[in-house]
Amino acid sequence: MFKLENTTKKLKTTLLSLGVISLFAASAVANESSVDGAVKYPTKDGKYGPYHINTQNVKYNNGRAATKNEINIWNVDVKPDLKDLPEYDTEKGKPVMEDGKPKIAEGSVEWGEELYDKNCGMCHGEFGAGGKGYPTLSGGKKADLVIQRLNPADKAPNPNVALKTIGSYWPYASTLFWYIKDSMPFTAPKTLTNSEVYAITAFLLSVNDIKVDGEEMDSEFVLNKENFHKIKLPNEDGFYPNVNTKDPRDGLNEVTKLLSNPKIYGTGTRCMKDCIKGDVKELLMRINVDLAPNANQPITAERSWKEPVSENSGKDPVVSGNYDTYCSACHSNKAIGAPVFGDKNAWTEVVSKGMDTVYKNAINGINAMPPKGGTVLSDDEFKKVVDYIIDSSK
Ligand code: HEC
Ligand code: HEC
Repeated sequence: MFKLENTTKKLKTTLLSLGVISLFAASAVANESSVDGAVKYPTKDGKYGPYHINTQNVKYNNGRAATKNEINIWNVDVKPDLKDLPEYDTEKGKPVMEDGKPKIAEGSVEWGEELYDKNCGMCHGEFGAGGKGYPTLSGGKKADLVIQRLNPADKAPNPNVALKTIGSYWPYASTLFWYIKDSMPFTAPKTLTNSEVYAITAFLLSVNDIKVDGEEMDSEFVLNKENFHKIKLPNEDGFYPNVNTKDPRDGLNEVTKLLSNPKIYGTGTRCMKDCIKGDVKELLMRINVDLAPNANQPITAERSWKEPVSENSGKDPVVSGNYDTYCSACHSNKAIGAPVFGDKNAWTEVVSKGMDTVYKNAINGINAMPPKGGTVLSDDEFKKVVDYIIDSSK
């Protein structure tokens, strides 16, 4: 047990648990010293060093435990062992009944295509061909995965990139089911039924020319929990060498062979500092979002979901709520080239085209902006959101 002495207040405390002492220290000796890892630091302006301390008396409301059905709704991970692949259609975490029996979850390639065109194509392109700024979901070859993108400042950077898609790169189809079920469509995740997810998964596998038991998937092919295990993606073995050998030395040889293959692990030299020299026009990735303002906030800063609008701001909470739900994913940072909410210059430029054009562009979609942002808002409702963004960006 540690003994702690506060010299300023002559306060002697026995440290029973870190939680107890840190709360206590924060309220009793605020702005004088803080305790972290049983070490005392002098504090100034609610901080010690770069760190904020808890200076307010906060009462946490921990809510209640989630019910089993609430957990079921969120607990959708599906691993390669396929154990958690859903067997039935469910609603609010319970099986949907049909003629007194739970309804089997399944979907055909044909139905999947219909669903895909309605829910996914505006972003991911026809047959998964990809859209500006959105991942390509089909095409690519496993054999191309060894293509390396060299340092773009090199004299002759490799112009080719490996196209990594479900068909060429992903090791397991279970990930596809899980990803769609959990997070797509981008603007309305978790809205698809299990059957719909089976159908879309089947469609995406078929456009990737995945064979099931050696057979092509035609439009009548129906996917469900029972036949899912027959799908094998071409790159399943591409992530690690086969070390399941009788003699462990053979396994070790396999690893060495893989790691020393320059086509996979590179021929260049490592570099930790000033790596990119010369005039580099384009890098593959760039981080445009400034994370700093949100990082390292005081522990007492409220981070829970705030009701978007207060009564006296004169804004319609439904409209700003629609913005938060449907548009902010793309319009709150520059990552995919959307004019950013609140960016006066960007929106002045947009508006200069004339509002009729702006409405038309946003309703029909323009470049990486899907029609109506991928929503099913009516024209009127949608235009109100556009007006709200523009008004807030003046
Ligand atoms: C509004 C645009 C939009 C819509 C609509 C949309 N997606 Fe996506 N999708 C995205 C974005 C953006 C990502 C990348 C997300 C990320 O990397 O965090 C993505 C990623 C994916 C990925 C992972 C791709 C990869 O290689 O990593 C899959 C699979 C996918 N979406 C499937 C779907 C399906 C199926 C639908 C329809 C049910 C759908 N998406 C609808 C925008 C969209
Ligand atoms: C999937 C990403 C995405 C979503 C979701 C999205 N936008 Fe956009 N939006 C964009 C991008 C990217 C542009 C820039 C398009 C361009 O000019 O290349 C854009 C442009 C716009 C424009 C300007 C059109 C013009 O004529 O220049 C308006 C208005 C707009 N969005 C409104 C909305 C509204 C309202 C919503 C929500 C209901 C929304 N967007 C949701 C990506 C998105």
